[in-house]
Amino acid sequence: MMLQAAKINTGRAMRVGVVGVGVMGANHARVLSEFPGVELAGVADPDRKQAHFVGGTLGCPALASIEELLDRGVDAVTIAAPTHLHRDIALACIARGVHVLVEKPIASTVAEGEDIIKAARRAGLTLMIGHVERFNPAVQAIAEAIRSEDILSIAITRVGPFPPRMSNVGVVIDLAVHDIDLICWFTRSKIVEVQPQLSSAVAASAVAEREDIALLQFRTASGVLAHINTNWLTPFKARTVHVATKRKYVIGDLLTRQVTECYGFQPDGSYSMRHLSVGHAEPLRAELTAFVKAIREGTPPPVTGEDGVASLAVAIQCLNGRADAAVTPKSAPYIEAVPAKRRARAAFASS
Ligand SMILES: NC(=O)c1ccc[n+]([C@@H]2O[C@H](COP(=O)([O-])OP(=O)(O)OC[C@H]3O[C@@H](n4cnc5c(N)ncnc54)[C@H](O)[C@@H]3O)[C@@H](O)[C@H]2O)c1
Repeated sequence: MMLQAAKINTGRAMRVGVVGVGVMGANHARVLSEFPGVELAGVADPDRKQAHFVGGTLGCPALASIEELLDRGVDAVTIAAPTHLHRDIALACIARGVHVLVEKPIASTVAEGEDIIKAARRAGLTLMIGHVERFNPAVQAIAEAIRSEDILSIAITRVGPFPPRMSNVGVVIDLAVHDIDLICWFTRSKIVEVQPQLSSAVAASAVAEREDIALLQFRTASGVLAHINTNWLTPFKARTVHVATKRKYVIGDLLTRQVTECYGFQPDGSYSMRHLSVGHAEPLRAELTAFVKAIREGTPPPVTGEDGVASLAVAIQCLNGRADAAVTPKSAPYIEAVPAKRRARAAFASS
């Protein structure tokens, strides 16, 4: 991959803006406002009340549009507007020579995601995708434990109650896309077979417009079997990852951040177990640190645009429902055609 032409290493503070300061973007802004060597240059959101709430809390300019933010002069932005706007916002920033971090999923369609990749590559700018789960210290401990192992299977559970904020995005795009990315990252391979089972169990009561249960099975090019169990029916949140390798069985709880490995399997069925050491870093802080570092050093970011498109393509394939379904639909009406409802502002203040 080419080195970034527009690296920033002048010793001055990097000016970073946030586009879209709802639930996720407000957290981006909070973290960036505390970064050494970074100046939070402003937040842009057409919801004036929300922009002023976040800008006022963090002491940075609150702007109504992306153009006003770009006119103030920024080196980089993070984009946490609704997914169907990612492409246009990213292209507008890239056209002004601004590095971009785009929240997951990269865009509504594979074609839109590819437009962002092409534009960033042509401009020699850093493009990173916000697959924040890769920066969860428990996920990193699992990745480290299986790094030189021969992986056989991966089982991921990501379940919880129906989030009141959700509009017409289902569990595949909202939740499973995180785990599709993890499967590709853990295996350093790509998913070549998909067997999805989806259901809208609560749809009849009009709570969920899209699938709220998904049982997804995959095979990677490297031969690993993987499955994701995700739903909005479980009354409590659970996020677990189990990885079987030839020599180990690794179990991680992404919420409690406890990671255990079983090893030393004996013919009599006995084995040893140990807890692995897991860090305490806030995943979003680690993600944004990696974004800033990639810009400063002109190195490829840890989650590339291509990674973002790969996980979106598999998620769309799951939604299309057939193993042989095309990965590029003509449209993706299931992705945020209706903006999500305003979240509790307190969630930001207390996060
Ligand atoms: N990485 C993660 O774990 C994670 C978690 C939640 C959301 N997300 C992603 O973050 C993005 C935002 O999700 P959210 O939950 O914060 O949504 P949200 O609805 O809370 O926030 C979106 C914000 O964007 C604003 N907005 C709308 N149009 C805009 C425009 N043209 N320019 C600038 N801002 C605009 C809205 O007013 C709103 O404040 C989505 O892509 C979502 O998939 C990622």
